[in-house]
Amino acid sequence: MTVDRLAALMARGAEFLGSETAIICGAMSWVSERHLVSAVSNAGGFGLIACGAMTPELLDAEIAAARALTDRPFGVNLITMHPQLFDLIAVCAKHGVGHVVLAGGLPPKGSIEAIKEWGAKVICFAPALALARKLHRSGVDALVIEGMEAGGHIGPVATGVLAQEILPVLAGELPIFVAGGIGHGEAIAAYLEMGAAGVQLGTRFACAAESIAHPNFKKAFFRASARDAVASVQIDPRLPVIPVRALRNAGSEAFTAKQREVAQLLDDGKVDMGAAQLQIEHYWAGALRRAVIDGDVENGSLMAGQSVGMVTKEEPVADIIAALMAEARAALARRAA
Ligand SMILES: Cc1cc2nc3c(=O)[nH]c(=O)nc-3n(C[C@H](O)[C@H](O)[C@H](O)COP(=O)(O)O)c2cc1C
Repeated sequence: MTVDRLAALMARGAEFLGSETAIICGAMSWVSERHLVSAVSNAGGFGLIACGAMTPELLDAEIAAARALTDRPFGVNLITMHPQLFDLIAVCAKHGVGHVVLAGGLPPKGSIEAIKEWGAKVICFAPALALARKLHRSGVDALVIEGMEAGGHIGPVATGVLAQEILPVLAGELPIFVAGGIGHGEAIAAYLEMGAAGVQLGTRFACAAESIAHPNFKKAFFRASARDAVASVQIDPRLPVIPVRALRNAGSEAFTAKQREVAQLLDDGKVDMGAAQLQIEHYWAGALRRAVIDGDVENGSLMAGQSVGMVTKEEPVADIIAALMAEARAALARRAA
């Protein structure tokens, strides 16, 4: 009898998510809407709606629409700095969403409790071991550790280092999903063997056949290699901006100009630091929409991780998941032999 080692290694993560595999498609603003989310869940992965800057009314409609397309579980990703965070949590409660991811900073007071009130599971990003411990103590049910290879907003540490620092210490305590730079099943096998409960991928799914991203956006991904996915640079030490990894284009230059503009507003006392940072975040949301929805791949933001070089064609989500699983299974078999 052959034991499916991959299924065994994924069992804990899959049980936590309620999915067949422990592969999460990370929330991607504008991209992770009803179609991609339901396709991922229907294919045995775990889809996440990216709430981003959505209003509670829009999130309400999006959850209902995704539910109509799949009877499998999916979750919702909320950004902690959203001014209506608690109203968005109430929308998730209304729909009985089973998993809520809190992204973009430490969860504000009362948010974890509010989500757990209807029995949902809370997942948070842990950028360092000390914070991972703190989140675990605060009652978070699972963690995502995301390295700087990832697309979108990134921390300063590489996935491999976070995995070594956090998995040996905390993987026995709560499920941990590894994200950032994963494009092939070989890496999935490695992180599972290190103790991860599962993985989260974004870039690899952004150009799936079911993704509504504009054909120009997808073409830019197919052409790009790892070195084209670069992190944004902070130009003013007084204005800390979270770096964003995206394909280099004219939009990357425009971000430098935007930072100068916002730093000037800070200098003139026209905005405080909180408002300045919110302006930067609104800038990214707008720039990403321009690329994903309008197809303006010159001036919009082509957020992508370093794994973009492994994205070479448009494929159905089911084929992507099947390929990742087959690669991971083959890697495990090779190692066992
Ligand atoms: C186009 C794009 C948009 C993203 N938007 C978000 C977001 O709105 N919220 C979030 O938590 N993560 C966001 N991410 C990060 C992904 O959810 C995921 O964690 C990341 O892509 C994993 O790394 P990978 O790109 O190397 O696969 C985004 C990533 C990409 C590529």
